[in-house]
Amino acid sequence: MDAPGQLRDRFGRLHDNLRISVTDRCNIRCFYCMPEEVEFVPRPEILTFEEIEHFVRLAVRCGIRKLRITGGEPLLRRDLPVLVRKLSAIEGITDLGLTTNGILLREQAAALYEAGLRRINIHLDTLDAERFRHITRRDHLDRVLEGIELCRCLGFRPIKINAVAVKGLTEPDIVPLARFGREHDLEIRFIEFMPLDGQGLWLRDRVLFARDILRTLSREIAPLVPVSDGDPRAPAAEYRYADGRGVVGFIASVSQPFCDRCNRIRLTADGKLRYCLFALEETDIKKLLRGGAADEEILEAIGSTVRAKWEGHQVNTARFVAPPRPMYAIGG
Ligand code: 5AD
Ligand code: SF4
Repeated sequence: MDAPGQLRDRFGRLHDNLRISVTDRCNIRCFYCMPEEVEFVPRPEILTFEEIEHFVRLAVRCGIRKLRITGGEPLLRRDLPVLVRKLSAIEGITDLGLTTNGILLREQAAALYEAGLRRINIHLDTLDAERFRHITRRDHLDRVLEGIELCRCLGFRPIKINAVAVKGLTEPDIVPLARFGREHDLEIRFIEFMPLDGQGLWLRDRVLFARDILRTLSREIAPLVPVSDGDPRAPAAEYRYADGRGVVGFIASVSQPFCDRCNRIRLTADGKLRYCLFALEETDIKKLLRGGAADEEILEAIGSTVRAKWEGHQVNTARFVAPPRPMYAIGG
């Protein structure tokens, strides 16, 4: 029997990591995450900071220790530093991170740092302005690069760069991004393209596999050796360049799923709790929060969501059904 306050599922996996999406809106339109024309959740349906804080306090009682704020683009949520301050003050939280596309960091990074944020993941697939526009359908590469530089100067650590790898598109970006990472002390993490685009664009043939990227980097830059002291439950497999200069990560969600060591649950911007990015079911937490449910009822809802968790995603099987929400609506 588990100690009270632990979220263990039927497969023995302990859950201590909560990803919180604070908005489904975004100021760019990465094709692998959302269609050009999107209908966003009406604002009143989005959880308030007070509701998020209330939920997190309960989640901590169940054993949640690590938080990551995501979106959509979380910086579109006005006063995000206010939420950062609230969440980092919660006793029991050991780790708070933010994933952003970086466009608004120029304006907001200092306030976020001031509010206590230190870990930041910035999404950047290419250093080429033309491909940036093609992927995001917007023209903001310079702003993102400025945002990254500012975060470095302010002292955010670690700063990780998320790059989605798409076959037939981002191959020319692999080496320049990796070099950029080495030069600026950033960990570049290549993420295999997952079927979450909401437009049916994903095809297995469009996944640029982590092992192919690894081979390219070893050949073009320096041999790569696995980092042995990395967090075994982190989705990214980390490698160090043999010449001692820098670390690169691979999130091989398609070719080497890490479901067997998954420790995450996700709260969507409209207050639905999910046990998996690809889950086909979710628990309506907002209804409980707004309906005046007792804390015990919400704690039970968190526990039962985890107990309902499946063994793993079905992307590699004929049974795979894409979730009804694309990435931006789930929270990356
Ligand atoms: N496949 C893989 N990664 C994706 N992201 C968004 N959509 C996809 C997709 N279809 C990534 C972005 C973002 C992170 C949270 O999820 O890089 O930084
Ligand atoms: Fe916006 Fe991130 Fe989706 Fe790109 S991947 S459209 S930055 S939410």
